[in-house]
Amino acid sequence: MIVYLNGEYMPAEEAKISPFDRGFLFGDGIYDATPSYDGKAVALQLHLDRMNRGLESIGIENPLTDQQWRDVAKNLSEKNGGQNLGIYFHVSRGNEGRRFQGFPTDIKATVFAMVINIDPHPEVPNRKLKSGLRAVSAEDLRWRRCNIKSTALLGNVLHFQESYSAQKDETIMYNANGELTEASISNVFIVKNGAVATPILDNQILPGISRHIVVDSLRIDGSIPVEERVVTMNEVRQADEIWITNSSKHIGPVIELDGEAVGDGLVGPVWEKAMTIYESVKYDY
Ligand SMILES: Cc1ncc(COP(=O)(O)O)c(C=O)c1O
Repeated sequence: MIVYLNGEYMPAEEAKISPFDRGFLFGDGIYDATPSYDGKAVALQLHLDRMNRGLESIGIENPLTDQQWRDVAKNLSEKNGGQNLGIYFHVSRGNEGRRFQGFPTDIKATVFAMVINIDPHPEVPNRKLKSGLRAVSAEDLRWRRCNIKSTALLGNVLHFQESYSAQKDETIMYNANGELTEASISNVFIVKNGAVATPILDNQILPGISRHIVVDSLRIDGSIPVEERVVTMNEVRQADEIWITNSSKHIGPVIELDGEAVGDGLVGPVWEKAMTIYESVKYDY
């Protein structure tokens, strides 16, 4: 794999950073990942906007312009054979040569980018051919600024591991009030009686770009009602369908939660419709 580090492209094995980098010492940084198919990125500007907001919120000046990031995305896709890739961007506050928590002044951010292989998506989704995902649930024990796409991901990693070690695909999380937040690497939607609901955007969840495309495109299409509101775990457990959304799965249908079938235990018809709408508009964002 060819990666990008601080202005240069190089084979992954040659990319080296200092152990004094604050990304390594503190997870002090912001990242983003944009799906790209045959060199065509999905919603790259929305990913760049989110990264800009994240960097601003933790006081790191964005080291590249949006156009420079676009060039990095294009070059990495070309240098790594195009096809189905997640383009991963990572900015840390940099390396001051010592371990000290306070923000250093006059320090250069570390900029890293690479690609991640992701699954292809059929343009015509078919629920009979789609394999469903299995999830477990857990109380959300992460920090309270989950709207920031921080590279400090230990909370998410531990929650992901809860499902991974049980040979499941995701961990769906709830807050102390029993309200759905999100999943360890995804946002969550439920479907009941044909209507779709997902938690509102606040500090408890990441403003997922896939979530945005789903909500926006369903609203524009108009054939499936969609609400952003508080969703309780009781509703999740009684849902006809559960979906998780992220930039590699787009909309992933969940057919089992905590060992119980979701709805009739099959990938649902509303998933098929929503995924069809998603596929038809994803390059418009
Ligand atoms: C915690 C969390 N929520 C939601 C998402 C989905 O975001 P997006 O759709 O922008 O990939 C991710 C993706 O990495 C995530 O890590």
